[in-house]
Amino acid sequence: MGLPDLLVKLYELPALGPEQARLTRAGIKLRPPLAFEKRAVVDWVNREFGGEWASECEVAFTKQPVGCIIAVQNRKIIGFACYDVTCKGFFGPMGVTADARGQGVGRALLLAGLHGLAAMGYAYAIIGGAGPVAFYQKTVGAIEIEGSEPGIYRDRLVASDPT
Ligand SMILES: CC(C)(COP(=O)(O)OP(=O)(O)OC[C@H]1O[C@@H](n2cnc3c(N)ncnc32)[C@H](O)[C@@H]1OP(=O)(O)O)[C@@H](O)C(=O)NCCC(=O)NCCS
Repeated sequence: MGLPDLLVKLYELPALGPEQARLTRAGIKLRPPLAFEKRAVVDWVNREFGGEWASECEVAFTKQPVGCIIAVQNRKIIGFACYDVTCKGFFGPMGVTADARGQGVGRALLLAGLHGLAAMGYAYAIIGGAGPVAFYQKTVGAIEIEGSEPGIYRDRLVASDPT
């Protein structure tokens, strides 16, 4: 079996400001990457999370504004999130490097991406093939979409390693 899709209400989102303020105190900044950073960002996603997520991240850079947010500490990427990339209205993929987990970076990236979708006019976001369902339930009250496994991922290609 695959992983379920989740639905998130975008009209009841927690504010991003307090999350950002907390991260700023820890020297972490969230921002969209700039076009000239595309290779650095996509390569980082590829190393940390593999080729499928790197492919989706590349698609984020075809948009203006870029459909991606990165978390940066000491001028290095520690996390990323994409939105409106896999399908219209989808959030994801997202990930935080293992060393930086557990300090609110994932929640802040999630909120930033969801606020991005809300600003685009969506009322609901879909988290496609959600891995850590409990993380999304806890942070933004996501609910599972019944019968959504394997959803759009039903006929996926077997991933091959291009390297
Ligand atoms: C899931 C992930 C993004 C979370 O990032 P993070 O920076 O560690 O998350 P946060 O510190 O912001 O956690 C926010 C809250 O969610 C909880 N949480 C984090 N990961 C969780 C998980 N896997 N399951 C359940 N709860 C989780 C935290 O305990 C925290 O709760 P608190 O507010 O009570 O302290 C990160 O573990 C990751 O990159 N995982 C691998 C990639 C992945 O699975 N991406 C999602 C693909 S759908």
